[in-house]
Amino acid sequence: MKPNPYFAALQKSYLFIDIARRVSAFTEANPNADVIRLGIGDVTRPLAAPVVAALEAASREMGSADTFRGYGPDTGYPFLKEAVRGYYAKRGVRLDADEIFISDGCKSDCGNIGELFAADNTVLIPNPVYPVYVDSNLMAGRPIVYAEATRENGFLPLPDRGVKADIIYICSPNNPTGAAYTQHQLAQWVDYARGNDAVILFDAAYECFVQTPDVPHSIYEVPGAEDCAIELCSLSKTAGFTGVRCGYTVIPKALVRGAEQLNALWARRQGTKFNEVSYIIQRGAEAVFTEAGMAACMENVAYYKKNTAVLSAALAQAGIWHSGGQNSPYIWMQCPGGMKSWDFFDMLLDKAHVVGTPGAGFGQNGEGFFRLTGFGNAARTAEAAERLVKLLG
Ligand code: MLT
Repeated sequence: MKPNPYFAALQKSYLFIDIARRVSAFTEANPNADVIRLGIGDVTRPLAAPVVAALEAASREMGSADTFRGYGPDTGYPFLKEAVRGYYAKRGVRLDADEIFISDGCKSDCGNIGELFAADNTVLIPNPVYPVYVDSNLMAGRPIVYAEATRENGFLPLPDRGVKADIIYICSPNNPTGAAYTQHQLAQWVDYARGNDAVILFDAAYECFVQTPDVPHSIYEVPGAEDCAIELCSLSKTAGFTGVRCGYTVIPKALVRGAEQLNALWARRQGTKFNEVSYIIQRGAEAVFTEAGMAACMENVAYYKKNTAVLSAALAQAGIWHSGGQNSPYIWMQCPGGMKSWDFFDMLLDKAHVVGTPGAGFGQNGEGFFRLTGFGNAARTAEAAERLVKLLG
């Protein structure tokens, strides 16, 4: 037996596991330190009441012989697909139910979607970005080129006609920078993809944070995207499902490459490797898309946005360059005094007992930058903001 040689190209451990290890080493050595965690983008608000009611009702159904259900339909229950369709329809995007694949979240779909593509495709990945894209393609041994996201281009790289890529990852609003493409900018990526016969993998996990009017929530708001883009989305951030697990991936039937409908290939792949999200969770997810469910979820989103505003005000007071917040739950700041991002991580933890995420963990261009999440508790975030001002001001 020979192990997969491509694992050798990966960092020793996954970014957020690495951070968790460093934080537990710190708390073991400093048991009295009051540590505030603004590192991993994990939600803290409880599930919306309509979601809880739906989860309870579905659990009761499972406990009764006449309403019990075993395996569900292979790509998701029709009731949830209808709810997702309705959500897209509100933005003028028309989808068929069989273009929607219910999943256990964006991370697994982002990691698995590569199985649709031959190993010798070239992948274009923004730098910095969510590390799953790079890691999963390294594991598959696929060649990667990077789209440079820098402070100069607002962390929103645009297509370079001189670069030939077959698969393009776009995360907008972006993790970690919070930058979000406008309709006009996304249209340039759609043009590029169509011109190169490439496929865009559009990660819309943070779409619910969009508030700028000309920033699309979905790539399908851009004409022509339906024959060159797959969209991956999750209820983790929209509805606080990080611990519940449910998301969806959209593959339009119009997306055909090499005479293959990618929709049919993904259906085939999922049929073999995935047994669907549980009935109970899909009922909870359906409730997210009701009027009352969405209103309650958006209250939580507003709560997190206030946190990012508090962090942003603190950094402004301390004279630190930063961005994000407007269309995202993340603040992306420059490390003070030209510090490297892991050095700043250590200093912030050691001196202020605040945890963030070093930009270098998202790619080389993240070096010198640092991410703070707005997903924390409001009082604790305000306390962290005070500590930031004290340390950096
Ligand atoms: C993050 O902190 O970047 C995210 O929570 C990671 C994820 O969504 O998997």
